Amino acid sequence: GLVSMKEMMIKGKKEGYAIGQFNINNLEFTQAILQAAEEEKSPVILGVSEGAARYMGGFITVVHMVKGLMIDYKITVPVAIHLDHGSSFDKCKEAIDAGFTSVMIDASHHPLEENIEITSQVVEYAHSHGVSVEAELGTVGGQEDDIIADGVIYANPQDCAELVSRTDIDCLAPALGSVHGPYKGEPNIGFAEMEEISKLSDLPLVLHGGTGIPVKDIQRSISLGTSKINVNTENQIVATKAIRDLLNSDPDVYDPRKYLIPARNAIKNTVQGKMRDFGSSGKA
Ligand code: G3H
Ligand code: ZN
Repeated sequence: GLVSMKEMMIKGKKEGYAIGQFNINNLEFTQAILQAAEEEKSPVILGVSEGAARYMGGFITVVHMVKGLMIDYKITVPVAIHLDHGSSFDKCKEAIDAGFTSVMIDASHHPLEENIEITSQVVEYAHSHGVSVEAELGTVGGQEDDIIADGVIYANPQDCAELVSRTDIDCLAPALGSVHGPYKGEPNIGFAEMEEISKLSDLPLVLHGGTGIPVKDIQRSISLGTSKINVNTENQIVATKAIRDLLNSDPDVYDPRKYLIPARNAIKNTVQGKMRDFGSSGKA
């Protein structure tokens, strides 16, 4: 059923696996991810960026679509609908009021004190509605331009400890070299910092930019307290490739279902593979 991500993340951290956050962009993404989770008997987090929510119609449309599919597909595994990279208290509140069960407040571009202030405000509102909260520190690459050459700022472990002790967040995303979108070469994840942050607080950690991170790095992250891994781009790539291949092979196709079904299957297969890599299969 529909739940916050608090319980699933605590269980994941305790038992040594991570739950995937798979971003949804439309109906077919949502269908594919829910079916993958049910078949794998895995808990799942549906990530919804503000842009994707806008594309689909709005937060209310998203919640009703997910709830409808969960009934029609008889979904029994735990599912969270999570606002990805929420930009303000108002956006988080809007998502919570629409029925999201989890939100991320991304105030990481603000100075620490402001980040703590905005995050606390979100936690207060979210927790009074049974909604879980993820906060971020540092900068995930590929998302915003920055003075640092590759746009990545590693989260400072002391800042992380401060944010965690002064807010009641449910999980923390310390940016440690991961990048949104494909990596140029091998990712360079700050495992030393990850370990330090894990030791400073007991909170489950979140790894953004899951696309293109090798399985060995995934496993190491999990062993260092990561219990949520976000994946978006990889599903977009496999879905678009399936559509492109089909249209190229058959120029007479005009029924959208003819090319959206292969796209949906590609997403489902990819998500099932991730759930096995992350160790969440069979854990629901
Ligand atoms: O918040 C979303 C994720 O961090 C997705 O990253 O598109 O590189 O898989 P990705
Ligand atoms: Zn992200």
